[in-house]
Amino acid sequence: MMKKLTLRRPDDWHLHLRDDAMLQGILPETTRHFARAIIMPNLVPPVVTGADAAAYRNRILAALPDDAAFEPLMTLYLTEDTDPADVAAAHASGLVKAVKLYPAGATTNSNSGVRDFDRVRAVFETMAEIGLPLCVHGEVTTASVDIFDREAVFIDTVLDPIRRATPGLRVVMEHITTRQGVDYVRAGGEDLAATITTHHLIINRNHILVGGIKPHYYCLPVAKREEHRLALRAAATSGEARFFLGTDSAPHIDSLKEQACGCAGCFTATNTMAILAHVFDEEGALDQLERFTSLNGPAFYRMPANDSTLTLEKTTEPADWPAKILTGAGPVTVFDPGFPVHWQVHD
Ligand code: NCD
Ligand code: ZN
Repeated sequence: MMKKLTLRRPDDWHLHLRDDAMLQGILPETTRHFARAIIMPNLVPPVVTGADAAAYRNRILAALPDDAAFEPLMTLYLTEDTDPADVAAAHASGLVKAVKLYPAGATTNSNSGVRDFDRVRAVFETMAEIGLPLCVHGEVTTASVDIFDREAVFIDTVLDPIRRATPGLRVVMEHITTRQGVDYVRAGGEDLAATITTHHLIINRNHILVGGIKPHYYCLPVAKREEHRLALRAAATSGEARFFLGTDSAPHIDSLKEQACGCAGCFTATNTMAILAHVFDEEGALDQLERFTSLNGPAFYRMPANDSTLTLEKTTEPADWPAKILTGAGPVTVFDPGFPVHWQVHD
């Protein structure tokens, strides 16, 4: 029964750290297990320029726990006014590792995102030239498109035309939630990859809605039908190079999740590694876990894998984590997979 697994230390290729008291409260949940993370720029106001990213990086470094060896990988929030020269300079200095595209209105704090894709064409062209990846929130925002179809429609009507118009543009489809997303990445060649979250490997839309509405399972893109969850599990556990972990761990205080109009986001930083060990074990794919969490991401982002390691151990007792992280901004509920997890992470 005793199983132990030592991996290169994992990275999180899609993470929300927020700012101020929330940042301070939740940052240790990530640095305990992860060496690096791609930091989402959807603050209020957003992280738009190289100068914004440098200042935000300093705030993250100042909030690090004393013993943490953690490198925040910064991103810029793409707006219709983004200056290609600023993007190129932020990349050349080593500060910025990706640019994030939010269609305006698609998700939390996305109002400054892009409405007219022609207005960001010059930025895309610069990014293709310098090899800087575009991280994409892939959902259309058209009111007439059903929320469960928004990712598939985005691929056909927005993403594919952008990629055809900008050869060489390197794209990460963030937090894919559909079979169509998996298929599009598989067919997409070496410039296309996708992150997959922990929670989308666990929940389908029934978990959100059956037996009462569960606000802590609501995130964007929203979890889809079971067939899509199964496609994501197959992709994540396949070891294929262009799928890797981006938790999309997105903390919101409980009072903002548990209200008439609850906001989107699942907080998984605390228990992601234990849950992933459970999932990969269940799929008979523990030998692929390191690719998903620690090797495929750095390879796509053209960085070395981490030298340090993390050990996971299968235990008879179920793992135990706090139900909530008590931050100075308020309590944040930790994602509940809904089953006992018999894996412990030795950090
Ligand atoms: C994210 C957030 O809260 O910032 N929410 C979410 O449901 N994933 C934004 C995002 O990544 O879409
Ligand atoms: Zn996100």
